[in-house]
Amino acid sequence: MSFLLQILLALIISLLGGLYILGAFRRRRPGEPPLDKGPLPWLGHVLEFRRDTAKFLERMRKKHGDIFTVQLGGFYFTFLTDPLSFGSVVKEARAKLDFNEFAKHLVKRVFGYHPIEDDHKLIQVSSNKHLMGDGLVVLTQAMMNNLQNLMLHRIGSGSTDDRSWQEDGLFTYCYNIVFRAGYLALFGNDAAKTPESLDKAKEVDRKESEELFYEFRKYDQLFPKLAYGVLGPSEKIESERLKRLFWNVLAVDKMNTKENISDWVSESQQTRDERGMDKSMQDRHMFLLLWASQGNTGPASFWLLLFLMKHPEAMAAVKSEVDEVLRETGQEVKSGGPLINLTRDMLLKTPVLDSAVEESLRLTAAPVLTRAVLQDMSLKMDNGREYKIRKGDRVSLFPYMAVHMDPEVHPDPHTFKYDRFLTPEGRKKTEFYKGGKKVKYYTMPWGAGVSMCPGRLFAVNELKQFVFLMLTYFEFELMNPDEEIPDMDVRRWGFGTMQPARDIPFRYRLRF
Ligand code: HEM
Repeated sequence: MSFLLQILLALIISLLGGLYILGAFRRRRPGEPPLDKGPLPWLGHVLEFRRDTAKFLERMRKKHGDIFTVQLGGFYFTFLTDPLSFGSVVKEARAKLDFNEFAKHLVKRVFGYHPIEDDHKLIQVSSNKHLMGDGLVVLTQAMMNNLQNLMLHRIGSGSTDDRSWQEDGLFTYCYNIVFRAGYLALFGNDAAKTPESLDKAKEVDRKESEELFYEFRKYDQLFPKLAYGVLGPSEKIESERLKRLFWNVLAVDKMNTKENISDWVSESQQTRDERGMDKSMQDRHMFLLLWASQGNTGPASFWLLLFLMKHPEAMAAVKSEVDEVLRETGQEVKSGGPLINLTRDMLLKTPVLDSAVEESLRLTAAPVLTRAVLQDMSLKMDNGREYKIRKGDRVSLFPYMAVHMDPEVHPDPHTFKYDRFLTPEGRKKTEFYKGGKKVKYYTMPWGAGVSMCPGRLFAVNELKQFVFLMLTYFEFELMNPDEEIPDMDVRRWGFGTMQPARDIPFRYRLRF
């Protein structure tokens, strides 16, 4: 074979190889879902997906129906949009649909953390112990103490402006308080050397958590681009700076100087230490825990309070329930009186507030749940049809579009109805229907199956404690009573609780 022919052959082989990698040869095979490769080689639909995930998926659903495969950045994602069929993904064996494989790449890119073999198992074991059951009682109390420090420290300080109106953005205010109290409850307080220095330690907590929140928000704003790997050069530098700052502030050695560190955080660190993970990687894991625990609850508290403020009938129903719970436990909020305490048990007696929380999350929690396909398999739909899925692909659910906003499951889906999740007898409603069939996964703010949020019970308690304190200790109002509910920041679809596209001015002051 002549030399020229060899070069030509090599070129043809590399060209075909390149085209193969770019996905040019992929065709829909019999039995597979409709395939939509998108306008760009390899990238597929990723630009449109990233611009507005909900809009893109709605377009695909209209075009292809309840199941379709799209190309996104070199991977083929099959989206299933029929909520009655969700079980076939959520309950599929891990040997076929795996959460870890997908999550591993994300946490490396976003937190610089390299998970160990049984990382996911460790999170689940320690979360079951410390974010639920007896662990939840302790954590809820810690949250209460820290909320009191942040929200009520001015009470009885004797200062003349104790009761003056404070103005802020509602989103900034809610996120700030809930982030800082949640962070302190989980990662511990400044250690008071003597009983006399307790006030000083509380002040340090207030100041340091404020500084941390400020930096956290910067990272938070870069997060969508960071997750997609599309940061600009200056954003890359900034994100590296912030990562290092968090690894440093949350460093295990520094954390050990604190007190009241939650068992969830300390056990996570110990188990990784015992498995030989080096200290710098443990610091990165702390950052991951901070993100997982604080990235969603603050924004969720904003939506909840805003919906209540915009719906006076909902606010009145919640307020009357709050008053009732306080009365039952013999507590009264009064000038000069002791601060009220809210235990986990008290928070179990609030069906109206529970329903308002669930409704608020239905409207604003929008994760994309993704699994890696580890072997060729088939997905069975509720209507009996089966679809072949290829090894190496991804399978995803976007419950916000598929079920939260389905008018058949939730009539008038864009409207906040605080009692949507209440039965006529005032108990938790769990029966929702589509096409006459009961929908098991009627809302999924916490995901489902192996990766379901292990912090959900704590998160709901945090939201309820925050609202409780706002309603009992503060007067607050929107600066513009006719303020519209703001649009969502559409760049954040898929990452958990949505954030508003703009903040809303409001004012608040202590009642006493
Ligand atoms: C409103 C607040 C919250 C929302 C909406 C939320 C939502 C979610 C969702 C959707 C997932 C699953 C992600 C996936 O499948 O890819 C998740 C995972 C997780 N969440 Fe939450 N979360 C919240 C608060 C919390 C809190 C307060 C904690 C801890 C104290 C927490 C800890 C975690 C952890 C550790 C995971 C990873 C679980 C795993 O790897 O299996 N979350 N969360």
